[in-house]
Amino acid sequence: MHNCQVICGDATVCMREIEASSVDLVIADPPYNLGKDYGNNKDLKAWHEYEQFTQDWLAEALRIMKPTASIYVFMGVRFISRLFAIMEERFHLEFNGWITWHYTQGMGRKNGFSPRHEDILFFTKSSTYKFNLDSVRVPQKYFRNRNNMTGANPGDVWQFSHVHYCSAEREQHPTQKPEALMERMLRASTDEGDLVVDPFVGSGTTCRVASALNRRCIGIDLNPDYAAMSRERIGKPFDMFDSIDPRMNRTPRDLPNTEYKADVEDASITTPALFNDW
Ligand SMILES: C[S@@+](CC[C@H](N)C(=O)[O-])C[C@H]1O[C@@H](n2cnc3c(N)ncnc32)[C@H](O)[C@@H]1O
Repeated sequence: MHNCQVICGDATVCMREIEASSVDLVIADPPYNLGKDYGNNKDLKAWHEYEQFTQDWLAEALRIMKPTASIYVFMGVRFISRLFAIMEERFHLEFNGWITWHYTQGMGRKNGFSPRHEDILFFTKSSTYKFNLDSVRVPQKYFRNRNNMTGANPGDVWQFSHVHYCSAEREQHPTQKPEALMERMLRASTDEGDLVVDPFVGSGTTCRVASALNRRCIGIDLNPDYAAMSRERIGKPFDMFDSIDPRMNRTPRDLPNTEYKADVEDASITTPALFNDW
């Protein structure tokens, strides 16, 4: 059922068991080396050790990726520039995008600007890769002939709230990511039946979304409690993803303006229903 498997163990070691060039997508959300407590593993290494850890798991990730595969890596601001250099210069991956996840609210600071984002590096193994733009479009702001009125490219700033502590979907994991992030990556970079690997699966977000979207998934985590949590989460009934892009509810600003409406060749697509259906 679900075509998802969750393995408990070290990411680098477990990926050695996966066949070379067999994976369509890697989504990796590693510990950021900021001292988080992940139960049986503490996220605090000397930076040179963390760099070696990053190179080790990335080398395995690269080995299992098909030549047409993509990889998305989450990272905090302290290490992201070094991660970028490792991916581009050490592993010669093709840069595609630097995505900013704007999580809208968080802890406050009095002596500087409060952090409100984490970043995701999107690379591909070669210049030939899958990108299903039509699966991830968001509503256009304006009616214009030259705009694709089925929707716009979502861009590289993704605004989704954290999974709140009071949310029904919240798991007992310190860094659970919203499902909408994984949903967008999975829809854009895979098709149904494709295989995705998440080497740091945590609460199981990637596996749950992959399962809901009929993708195959292998999740790995060092903590047996998180591996069990992920397996249980995949089995829970699925109603909808736990985060909604607020722009999906947006009514285009110029909708009532007949001048703009006249600019649209196909009158049928000017109906507000198109947007209500999104
Ligand atoms: C940032 S969290 C992932 C959160 C996940 N994306 C989610 O939505 O729940 C990182 C995870 O990596 C796990 N981890 C730490 N070191 C690991 C290693 N060497 N191999 C596999 N997993 C590891 C931690 O236990 C933690 O659950």
